[in-house]
Amino acid sequence: MTTVAAERTRAGSPFAPGDDAAYRAWRAGKLAAYPARFDELVVPVRDPRALTPDEHAALARAIARANMAVYAGAEPAEDRDLPRLLARRFGLTRLDHNWLADDDGISSVTVTTDAGRGEFIPYTNKPIRWHTDGYYNPPARRIRAMVLHCVRPAAAGGENALLDHEIAYILVRDTDPALAAALMRPDAMTIPARTDDDGVARPAETGPVFAVDAETGALHMRYTARTRSIEWSADPAVRAAAECLARVLAGPSPYIHRVTLAPGMGLLCNNVLHDRTGFTDDPARARLIYRARYYDGIRPSV
Ligand SMILES: [Fe+2]
Repeated sequence: MTTVAAERTRAGSPFAPGDDAAYRAWRAGKLAAYPARFDELVVPVRDPRALTPDEHAALARAIARANMAVYAGAEPAEDRDLPRLLARRFGLTRLDHNWLADDDGISSVTVTTDAGRGEFIPYTNKPIRWHTDGYYNPPARRIRAMVLHCVRPAAAGGENALLDHEIAYILVRDTDPALAAALMRPDAMTIPARTDDDGVARPAETGPVFAVDAETGALHMRYTARTRSIEWSADPAVRAAAECLARVLAGPSPYIHRVTLAPGMGLLCNNVLHDRTGFTDDPARARLIYRARYYDGIRPSV
C-alpha cells in the first residue's frame, strides 16, 4: 500500500481492515442505494455519442449506486468512435492499449481464427469465468473503468453476469472481516509470467485482490476465477477468502445481474466483476463487441 493509501486508511476508509465504524456507515448507504432490479441501471439514450444532460445524469446516478450502467441506444451504431466519445463525457481519457487492440485502442471482440488472436478466450465463443479486466496488468496499468458496446449480439448466448465489486467486498467482509483483510494482502494473488488471455506477453504480477486506490480512495478489485495459470498465496486465510469469494460468485444472489446486450446497448462501468456465457454465432453476422479499457475511474461527482 502506498503512503497516500495508508493516509486515507488512517483517515477512516470503509475499506480499512479494523475500521468497523467507517465500514458500517458506508455499507448501510451502499446497500440502501443498491438497485434491486437490473432495469434500474438501464438508461435509454438517443445517441450514446452525444448524450443529453438528462441521459448523462441518469447514467451517472446508476454508476454512483452500482459502479455500472447500461445505455440502450436506438441503433447498433457500428462506429468505433462511439466508446471513446461516450467515455470522455465521464472523464475517461486514458485508454489502455494492448497489442490486440486496434490502433485506436478500441478492441473488436469477435470470434476470429486470426493467428495471435483466435487462441485467446475473448476471441472465441467459449464461456469466460468471473473476472475483472486487466487482472494481469501491472499497477501502473490498472484498469479502473471500461465500456463494452454491442454492435451485434450472438444468435444465442453471450450473456454477461455482473456484480459490483464493492458488493462482493461486502459479502466477503460480512462473512468474516479477516477474509476481506486477507484479500488485501499484497501477495494474495499471482498471475505467473505468460501470454495472457488478450495475447499480451508479460512478467508475473503479484498483488492484492482488493486494494484502496491511492489516487481516489476507491476500492479496486483484481480477480480471476480461473483455476489454471494463477497462484494464490499459501496463507490459509487467503485460500479461505478465495473460496468464500468463489461461493459468492457462484450465486444465486440478488446482487448478481444478468444481461445480454442487444444492438446499440453497452455497459459503462468501473471494471465490475463480470463473466460471459458461451455463444453460437449466426455465420453471416458474428457477434461484435467494441471494448475500451481506461486507467481512469468514473467518480460519482462526474
Ligand atoms: Fe472482461
